[in-house]
Amino acid sequence: MTTISTPHYLLDQAKRRLTPTVNNIPGMGMIEKRLMGMNWKTKILAEPPPGSGLKPVLGDSGLPIIGHSIEMFREGPEYALHLYRKYGPVFFADSSILPSVVALGPDATQTIFANKAKDYSTKGWIKAIGPFFPRGLMLLDFDEHLAHKRIMQGAFTRPRIASYVEDMDRVATSIVESWPTDDARFLFYPAVKELTLDVASVVFMGQDLRADRKLVAAVNHAFEQTIRAGTATIRTSVPPFKWWRGLQGRKVLEEYFYARVAERRKVEGTDMLTVLCHTADDDGNTFTDEDIVNHMIFLMMAAHDTTTSTLTTMVYQLAAHPQWQERARDESDRLGDGPLDIESLEKLETLDLVMDESLRLVTPLPLNVRETVRDTDLLGHYLPAGTLVTTWPSMNHLLPELYTNPNEFDPERFVEPRAEHKRHRYAWAPFGGGAHKCIGMVYGRLEVKTVLHRLLRSYRLELAHPGYRPRWDRTGMPFPMDGMPIVLRRL
Ligand code: HEM
Repeated sequence: MTTISTPHYLLDQAKRRLTPTVNNIPGMGMIEKRLMGMNWKTKILAEPPPGSGLKPVLGDSGLPIIGHSIEMFREGPEYALHLYRKYGPVFFADSSILPSVVALGPDATQTIFANKAKDYSTKGWIKAIGPFFPRGLMLLDFDEHLAHKRIMQGAFTRPRIASYVEDMDRVATSIVESWPTDDARFLFYPAVKELTLDVASVVFMGQDLRADRKLVAAVNHAFEQTIRAGTATIRTSVPPFKWWRGLQGRKVLEEYFYARVAERRKVEGTDMLTVLCHTADDDGNTFTDEDIVNHMIFLMMAAHDTTTSTLTTMVYQLAAHPQWQERARDESDRLGDGPLDIESLEKLETLDLVMDESLRLVTPLPLNVRETVRDTDLLGHYLPAGTLVTTWPSMNHLLPELYTNPNEFDPERFVEPRAEHKRHRYAWAPFGGGAHKCIGMVYGRLEVKTVLHRLLRSYRLELAHPGYRPRWDRTGMPFPMDGMPIVLRRL
């Protein structure tokens, strides 16, 4: 994707625009508008036990079979905001695909993430993505989850991360330098998606996939299939549909990772996979081969699209707001072109502000899924055991009660005395919270800053045309539907 000829570019754009999704099928906008205005027949999730003093959760079914999928996939957090304004913090979105309670606002998010009585299990995620990421860290619960997280922490200590930074910097620097300049056909999203996979292949697996484009394409494609499968409408394995494709992708990844584990058990190394093969918690507990394969596939997925999405949003914002780009570049210029380490990256404070604001506006993981393990109450509403619950930090990020002009890009809002993100403990939670809070947060932030530092030192980032705004596809993690053209001008 480093250079693309005009016919290829036109073909690529046509494919992006014409592959049918809820976002581009003609007339979907009008259908969505009508759906948003509908007053559906109200239904109750379950009658609260007599004398409990709890309220029932009210909601509706939306369209037959697909429920409110169209509104949710098209609008993401804006649709959640619409529900919050219309129905309040707890709403029952029934459907035959994934009936769930939508838990909105920072108080609901706090109850679910803090999980004081251990009422909420991440089994909810198993219903959504379980067959493609079985026994990934996020899909484990309670004591078992804690035991695995303790072992995995061994791969995320500061000295370990310091050595990952060296590798990521080396790979990112050479790829960024190879990107084409002065070319409005350069699509940032696919280019950076390939870059983050190349970084991951070196940092996570100690294997430079760049030497083997065929393998990169196969692994990338397999990841893509597994990630997209979670949003399938036909939620069973029927070829050639999404769910089936996800399972095929999983097979490719398992084969690939089992072979790598067998190699790495026998050697020492500083890549994450080799570290996981040898790491132990304080009591000497270690991972089995199967654990490592499951964790690696989940880790690669958790790291890949999240950092890709964050980098894409940040580059757009920096191109659209040259004053922030200049401010970030001044700090990068002070660092210069020497090798990066954690301490030097920590000095890039403007990039931290731009990242916080970009994660607020386009949150890579917009919602978190849980399931109740017993009857419980959520903000005074009755939830029976086995209820799927989704909470939406991305919607909290858009609340005018918390953020001044929430739709505006304004990184200063994170600076004292404004510090708007501190108005509620869960006003800002792009990395989740509680026991399942992102283990890769520090690593991910450093990766994003490394890539941007290298970009800012080499190029001025410009929008393809004035006023350009990406349209986000929200059927999975947000990505720009047109691939996001960005013009790189060599400094
Ligand atoms: C900007 C980048 C990232 C964002 C926005 C992000 C976001 C999140 C969120 C919201 C969760 C919590 C999910 C939940 O509770 O339902 C999470 C969990 C997780 N993330 Fe990240 N993540 C990022 C980067 C990474 C990276 C780079 C890695 C690995 C190196 C990673 C590995 C994980 C893992 C393993 C979990 C599960 C933790 C657990 O269950 O204890 N993430 N991430």
